Amino acid sequence: MSKQEDIFKNVISHAKEYGFIFPSSEIYDGLSAVYDYGQNGAELKKNIREYWWKAMVQMHENIVGLDAAILMHPTTWKASGHVDAFNDPLIDNKDSKKRYRADVLIEDYCEKLNQKAQKEIDKAKERFGDAFDEAQFVATNGRVVEYKARQKEILQRMASGLDSGNLEDVKALIEELGIADPETGSKNWTEVRQFNLMFGTKLGASAENAMDLYLRPETAQGIFVNFLNVQKSGRMKVPFGIAQTGKAFRNEIVARQFIFRMREFEQMEMQFFVRPGEEMKYYEYWKETRLNWHLSLGLGKENYRFHDHEKLAHYANAAADIEFNFPFGFKELEGIHSRTDFDLKAHEQFSGRKLQYFDPELNENYVPYVVETSVGLDRMFLAIFSKSLKEETLEDGSTRTVLALPSVLAPTKAAVLPLVKKDGLPDVAHKIVEELRWDFNVTYDEKDAVGRRYRRQDALGTPFCITVDHQTLEDDTVTIRHRDSMQQDRVAISELRNIINDEVSMRTWLLKTAK
Ligand code: GAP
Repeated sequence: MSKQEDIFKNVISHAKEYGFIFPSSEIYDGLSAVYDYGQNGAELKKNIREYWWKAMVQMHENIVGLDAAILMHPTTWKASGHVDAFNDPLIDNKDSKKRYRADVLIEDYCEKLNQKAQKEIDKAKERFGDAFDEAQFVATNGRVVEYKARQKEILQRMASGLDSGNLEDVKALIEELGIADPETGSKNWTEVRQFNLMFGTKLGASAENAMDLYLRPETAQGIFVNFLNVQKSGRMKVPFGIAQTGKAFRNEIVARQFIFRMREFEQMEMQFFVRPGEEMKYYEYWKETRLNWHLSLGLGKENYRFHDHEKLAHYANAAADIEFNFPFGFKELEGIHSRTDFDLKAHEQFSGRKLQYFDPELNENYVPYVVETSVGLDRMFLAIFSKSLKEETLEDGSTRTVLALPSVLAPTKAAVLPLVKKDGLPDVAHKIVEELRWDFNVTYDEKDAVGRRYRRQDALGTPFCITVDHQTLEDDTVTIRHRDSMQQDRVAISELRNIINDEVSMRTWLLKTAK
């Protein structure tokens, strides 16, 4: 097993053991690619959602929130293009009977070319040291130029095959590249076919009168159909945004990567409505703003990169992903899409209602253009959780497992621990919990030796452990232990609230975005 696979397995088992994520309906052997969040996972997920909401809605005067229903009138999905075009190209391996996404097989092949190019760059960097000019090397080194050109050529051919419906050529490309089933090595492929990802359901009591509906495959359409409701009731002026978080459903063909690709998942989306012609300016603005938001979490700049799309979704005129270095390599975390006026125009056409904005400065009506930011909440969870999980060797040679979550997102901010279960220490510890819980999620723990309790809180990602000892009874001080440095300071009980707040507040962390 590769080191990467080991790390990923460890992430999955840690998530289960410590009450973050369980397979759905596990007592019935689970449901493929569906997961439940446990007591700590629910807190972490809620905190990520809130961190996004504050950054997007509370901190932007011209962005407001929405909470639209999952079920929508079925014509919505005809207008949005999802009925006709929300397909994935699938291919089966005849020997292994395993099903794959044809585009993912080709993209993974290209990623290998990318890694080869990166190896050349890293080698040269080591050889030339400080004098190394990476941009020049990438532009002039024969091998790197060739790898990049080959990659571009392959992706362009795939995009043109998928866009024009020439699926025979997509299969031919897979065969020409010699792509084999990643699990078995077999190259015995079926034709490539399109598969619609939407889940159907029915509305109505009797079978004859039932109306066919879809579970929404993206939250965005709830925003589009409410565009004028929000604009008029909120007296919003273009440019403005509508943000929403909520469940989306996709019948994914291949769903083998834990919560990375689920059939039921949550999105955090924002549609930014702008004047036609100004969309590229805002597209660039949102690319940068969203990357900075990710960077504010301190997981390391080297773990993010942009990937500009060659193959555009049916609604976009420009699109980029923010990719993250997951335990299985760089993959999409967030999409930023310039969606033009495609959606609003289509809803105008299908509903017969005008979805236009009167711009008082230009004195004209128009259908606004839209720049969208769309991030998966579960993918954010996986990115944060997997990068935070660490095995550390300490000075004395022992090891500890620490979940070094950004403290603003940690499920529990502090654990209060009486050193022993007697002499009145538990009473004081309970009092501290009662006082702190008005502001923070805190917990009380008196079981096991204090060292073991510290380790347990480290594994849960709790930033602070507060220990009540005999000195506390004399001078109202406690020790406060910091998860990452393991440093312990003696402080007054009255200072605890401020110390914790300085470290975990949204303000502290979001201000990093501005820098
Ligand atoms: N409204 C645009 C849209 O839905 P998308 O690129 O299909 O665009 C946006 O999805 C984000 O939703 C992705 O970047 C990813 O984080 C998340 N996402 C998409 N499919 C997912 C799945 N099956 N499981 C978990 N997250 C998913």
